[in-house]
Amino acid sequence: MKDRQNIHGSWASRWVFIMAATGSAVGLGNIWKFPYIAGQNGGGAFVLVYLVCILAVGVPIMMAEVLVGRRGRQSPINSMREVAIEADHSPKWALVGWIGALAGFLIFSFYSVVAGWVLAYVAAMANGEFLEVGSEQAGKVFNDLLADPQALLIWHTVFVVLVMWILLGGVNKGLERATKIMMPALFVLLLLLLGYSMSSGAFGQGLDFLFHFDPSALSWHAVLVALGHSFFTLSLGMGSIMAYGSYMPKNASIGGTVLTIAALDTVVALVAGMAIFPIVFANSLDPGAGPGLMFITLPVAFGHMPGGQVFGFLFFVLVALAAWTSAISLMEPGVAWMVERLGLKRGPVCIMLGFVVWLMGIAALSSFNFGSGVSIFGMNIFDFLDFITANIFLPLGGLFIALFAGWVVTQRITRDELAMTTPGVYVAWSVMIRYIAPIAVAVIFIFNLIDKLG
Ligand code: PFF
Ligand code: NA
Repeated sequence: MKDRQNIHGSWASRWVFIMAATGSAVGLGNIWKFPYIAGQNGGGAFVLVYLVCILAVGVPIMMAEVLVGRRGRQSPINSMREVAIEADHSPKWALVGWIGALAGFLIFSFYSVVAGWVLAYVAAMANGEFLEVGSEQAGKVFNDLLADPQALLIWHTVFVVLVMWILLGGVNKGLERATKIMMPALFVLLLLLLGYSMSSGAFGQGLDFLFHFDPSALSWHAVLVALGHSFFTLSLGMGSIMAYGSYMPKNASIGGTVLTIAALDTVVALVAGMAIFPIVFANSLDPGAGPGLMFITLPVAFGHMPGGQVFGFLFFVLVALAAWTSAISLMEPGVAWMVERLGLKRGPVCIMLGFVVWLMGIAALSSFNFGSGVSIFGMNIFDFLDFITANIFLPLGGLFIALFAGWVVTQRITRDELAMTTPGVYVAWSVMIRYIAPIAVAVIFIFNLIDKLG
């Protein structure tokens, strides 16, 4: 078995890898985005397609990313190159890593803005600003925040600094240490909140909305959104998981580890949906309200429930932690690459890259105020960044990674890395990665395009 050393370090154990990758996966995508896009795309029908995408496309691609990372033992750009060369193919495959790193920056720039809203809400909840507030008033609080570039800038800046601070510490003293503190805290908070919402919510209608399958609610666009979201939520298609995989111990099994991560991510998304929709219906709010769903409906509910101030505060702390661990993983591929390429220390690299994403974030946050006039393909900057990353960059990145792992990387390498004890499982993975995942992505792309043109 071949094992290179990673200059950045490696996780202390398989469990640290699971926690770190789960930290990457579980984020705003689960708690903020999943409920609102499920709401906009018809609920149950969308959720079913999303689950199928996770299993048939997401899981095999996540395994591919981890195996390529662990084989290459470098940043995604350099691991792709290294593994391509080992398989006697062109080093140009590094381009996929480049596109991924770019996607990471684009995602970060709007992710940090939303994380900034979350931080603002942590403060607002602590101050009791939503006590006894109605939905109209809560909507006004949210819209006032969006209209205030200065407030947005402050919170966005705080978030960028928090993320860069952890990245600066490196794999062991930064990422690993943060993971070991934040992930247990995140799960304790989640359980606490679940118990709270079960004891005080009208579950039925919310559950029905999430799980009632109505095929007429489906469109090719909704299927594309479900596919894109399955990549976004699992942090796939851009190299985050590949980077984390490059720090994974050699003796850990990839298949079981990846299934655990995907399952945890899915559970968190469904729990978030089950917490939000009952409240939406109980207050006759609109499930298709969009990005404001979490920021308007939940504060109203918390404002009227016993203990709501405390639990509302804890809820937004939970979301902030989730966003933090994900944002760290968005930047790790770029940071690792610059350290390798320029031979710099993490400090200067984090300061430079932090400055770049900070500037990009300003463009994103201007969408709601001084830059609201800017329109790209009919979208503001924020929506455009969200749309092209989730629906184009990530699925395409995932498609290329699947083709790479399935057709370029030799079976000798993939068998060695996956080390499946049950032979059937390797065959199943290979069929998924060679045929099912690429064909599914291609078909969804093509039909969506036809649908748009027709
Ligand atoms: N998976 C994260 C979420 O669901 O919020 C977002 C994300 C992180 C996407 C890292 C992509 C990524 F590389
Ligand atoms: Na996620």
